[in-house]
Amino acid sequence: MATYTDFTTRQIHAGQTPDSQTGARALPIYQTTSYVFEDADQAADRFALAELGPIYTRITNPTQETVENRIADLEGGVGALLVASGSSAVTLAILNLAGAGDHVVSSPSLYGGTQNLFAHTLPRLGIEVTFVEDPTDPEQWRAAARPTTKAFFGETIANPSSDVLDTRAVADVAHEVGVPLVVDNTVATPYLARPIEHGADIVVHSATKYLGGHGTAIAGVIVDAGRFDYGAEPGRFPGFTEPDESYHGLVYAEALGEGGILGANVSFIIKARVQLLRDLGPAVSPFNAFLIAQGLETLSLRIERHVDNARRVAQWLTEQDQVLSVSYAGLPDHPSHARAQAYLPGGAGAVLAFEIEGGAPAGRAFVSALELHSHVANIGDVRSLVIHPASTTHSQLTPQAQAAAGVTPGLVRLSVGIEGIEDILADLERGFAAVSASRRETEAA
Ligand SMILES: Cc1ncc(COP(=O)(O)O)c(C=O)c1O
Repeated sequence: MATYTDFTTRQIHAGQTPDSQTGARALPIYQTTSYVFEDADQAADRFALAELGPIYTRITNPTQETVENRIADLEGGVGALLVASGSSAVTLAILNLAGAGDHVVSSPSLYGGTQNLFAHTLPRLGIEVTFVEDPTDPEQWRAAARPTTKAFFGETIANPSSDVLDTRAVADVAHEVGVPLVVDNTVATPYLARPIEHGADIVVHSATKYLGGHGTAIAGVIVDAGRFDYGAEPGRFPGFTEPDESYHGLVYAEALGEGGILGANVSFIIKARVQLLRDLGPAVSPFNAFLIAQGLETLSLRIERHVDNARRVAQWLTEQDQVLSVSYAGLPDHPSHARAQAYLPGGAGAVLAFEIEGGAPAGRAFVSALELHSHVANIGDVRSLVIHPASTTHSQLTPQAQAAAGVTPGLVRLSVGIEGIEDILADLERGFAAVSASRRETEAA
């Protein structure tokens, strides 16, 4: 297969050749659960991993595989695993490294669902998570690490605080203490940031967002940089260095590490597939994989427009009387601005948040008044979206966890779409006018 250097070419062509059976140019949707084996030997070989080929769509599917190969290429990884949602991508990435008795160190600036997973569900499974107080201080990551620590975790651009992870500094500390860095790159996308180039070992995405881009499919992806040696420290990652009795006694770090049967170190991503996806089962549907592939083809074009619009919206918001502050790393006064310039030269994405005067009632009135903006629990759609995080996406968090994630009562989150900028700004103006009107009514009553 030809290889191309330009991202915009690879987002269309990487990982795909015309269908070998029919010549179909567009990606075929292999809407099948299972695959006919030629004979009993082939069936046995496929189950034993002696021959790589599809068995059952929960574990592999040609449509899904094309999308995996394309995203791995765009992120600069050796392999990828497409799964049913971003949440299952995060969960599988962690469970592939950590089990009961283990520990994870995380940034506190996280999507609310990941916060819940880390603060409640992982502890129920015996995995403890320490949230560093200041993720910009690499020494806090080092101080939080223990002999049982199995991963560091952060988001390239945190949703919704817009905090930018110092990927290189955190990756260096992770490697010094002997663990991989897992980065959620959903908000940035590989067009704006490729964490693997800055030392991350595993990248996860909610493909539901910008990769799909049209708000039509829930999916997630895990990408493996193929660099971390899980066998380097004896006993640290037993899931990789001890035989997997559920898989013919396979020792992942030996058989699938650097110089193993596939040459590259693909131990992480194959273990995630053949062990965790097999057993926990969050498989993506072939149709959703197809929708993600459709989105990928225009990723760079959409992101450029998203970023242009987001910059205009962020600047315009700073000029509004009712806006107390704007969280967008693209603005010079954002605490992450210098990191955004270093890690995100193409722009700081298109998710931003602002604090409206009047707290939660004003925030709720604002989102209710918008017409162009869809009031939804999503980001990364071509459409402009709005939500009031404190009463929705982050409502299950304690006030302390909300504060750590940058969610204040009057915070409004925007996912700036690719519509005409004048229509977007006019709609936001409508929201501010509605808040002023309701304030005047309250004062008059
Ligand atoms: C940064 C981030 N990671 C993960 C997720 C979870 O993804 P999904 O909704 O596809 O499960 C989301 C969803 O909003 C997100 O914003």
